[in-house]
Amino acid sequence: MTQEYILVCVAWPYASADIHQGNVTGSYLPADIYARFHRLKGNHVLMVSGSDSHGTPVTVKADELGKSAREIFEYYHGRFLELFQKLGLSYDLFTHTDTENHHRVSQDLFLTLLKNGYLYTKVTPQMYSPQSNKFLPDRYVEGTCPNCGFTRARGDQCDNCNTLFESASELIDPRSKLDNSPLELRDTEHFFLDLPKLAEDGLANWINDDKEHWRPQVINFARNFVNQGLIGRAVTRDMDWGIPVPVEGYENKVLYVWFEAVIGYLSATIEWAHNQGQPDAWRNWWQNPKARTLYFIGKDNIPFHTVMWPAQLIGARGLYSDDPNQRLNLPYDVPANEFMNMEGRKISGSMNWGVWMLDALERHDPDPLRYYLTAIMPETRDSDWSWEGYVERNNTELVGNWGNLVNRVLNMTRRYFNGVVPEPGELTEQDQSLLAAIDAGFETVGKLYDACKFRAAVQENLRLATMVNQYLEDTSPWLTVKTDLAATARSLYTAIQAINGLKVLWAPILPFTSQQLHEMLGENGRLFGTQKVETYQESNRSHIALTYDPDGAVGKWQREEIPAGRSLPKPKPLFKKLDDQVVADELARLGSRPD
Ligand code: MF3
Ligand code: ZN
Repeated sequence: MTQEYILVCVAWPYASADIHQGNVTGSYLPADIYARFHRLKGNHVLMVSGSDSHGTPVTVKADELGKSAREIFEYYHGRFLELFQKLGLSYDLFTHTDTENHHRVSQDLFLTLLKNGYLYTKVTPQMYSPQSNKFLPDRYVEGTCPNCGFTRARGDQCDNCNTLFESASELIDPRSKLDNSPLELRDTEHFFLDLPKLAEDGLANWINDDKEHWRPQVINFARNFVNQGLIGRAVTRDMDWGIPVPVEGYENKVLYVWFEAVIGYLSATIEWAHNQGQPDAWRNWWQNPKARTLYFIGKDNIPFHTVMWPAQLIGARGLYSDDPNQRLNLPYDVPANEFMNMEGRKISGSMNWGVWMLDALERHDPDPLRYYLTAIMPETRDSDWSWEGYVERNNTELVGNWGNLVNRVLNMTRRYFNGVVPEPGELTEQDQSLLAAIDAGFETVGKLYDACKFRAAVQENLRLATMVNQYLEDTSPWLTVKTDLAATARSLYTAIQAINGLKVLWAPILPFTSQQLHEMLGENGRLFGTQKVETYQESNRSHIALTYDPDGAVGKWQREEIPAGRSLPKPKPLFKKLDDQVVADELARLGSRPD
């Protein structure tokens, strides 16, 4: 079978806040499961993302804390690298948007759009602060709501009556949030992306083309957005933190954060290729029409990934090519997730309502967290994290079903056969049909992983584990051991082969414990490659990134034989039973606490 090129694009977190379970289940974890599955399949997987270091979320946080935007983004970027490594999110490259490489690729793509006639300039009035001598983003404007008279309405929305403003200029008596000084409207010139023209030049055809495999809520949204008629959008901003506009006379403006962050998917693959010493390798995923590119994002990011970014790609034809018509690949799928709530409420940083993942990993193992986040992943509708649910599913499913199965099989092998895989003699029909069911799981579970139906993959794996548990009940090796040792040998041999298959079926979701089981079955090597935090030097600064080295990975999407006669190491439980105190302790951490 020929190997496929699969590009796994993962949402770029703003480097302005710690990551919670909603972010992880929304995009990072499904991306990782998908990437690991395709690596086991032997495909050429490239999984990229990075910290979104620009934009007002970062500058607002910096102002709040009296730090520079760079300090803020570097602090959170470092924490993201630590979290992703601990959680086993296997990015081939997790970089950030403040690299020289990303600046250059973003500017190149902008200039290609300009050359191809998809950017135009327009003058519009914007809020200007004479006090600080600069234009202010809407986020920095406060004033009186024209609808309800609330005096502290924000530039984009009134929190009292929920009116949304198209522009901060609708506010009465607009003031700067930075220093409360009065603001005025001044004209400013910006570049606009000509979306109506891009709709005609391919975007509308592409979005209306066959998208059978897309999630309905995603493709419906995108089609409505395009088909109702697009308008041009400003892709530059008056700010000083960001990537300078590469046009004479506009150097004091920056590229709009959303415009350049999505370009990160391309620039990160170029950076990765450069780091591999194969600077053209990125082309296998972007210029190869057979490659598949998937974007793992939360639902709030749908417009930017299904419409804006494809528009940018269509408009940038000819970029990094001798052929002016060469187009980079458009998304194959955008399996956006809905939101996750927690204990019936919205996750919120300011209310301290969420599971802060780096903190949670101090008390919990990565696989149980990954397990619960997959089992309740908001694939088709919003879902709800509860600590009670976490403990319950850990105890009944991970410990009670899958973990218990592994324990029983390995402990009996130890007790009855001194830890040596027994000679089975001839397998019965019952044995063979169990192994056939596990083998069929590689088809069914594989299809589910490939279709990003991860909750269903969990259910299918549990069903297979239950089936093996039932097989043990039926063959009762603990009874036959007294009467028919050959039957005990056959049964345990068969069960060992079955859990060795299940180990692989679970591995995309449970990479750490699957590796432990791999070793407890006396197998060598690592199922997956290794992650590292590395420092790269660019011409005038260095940056740190998380990388994945696939060398030495032995995992394969199939059941392999554990030979009879092999002596197995002493088994250890894969999972821990959690008591109710865990629920109480975790709930007590929630909500605002005095600092
Ligand atoms: N940083 C943004 C967010 O967290 C955008 C993420 S995806 C990107 O919502 F590709 F646009 F960066
Ligand atoms: Zn109002």
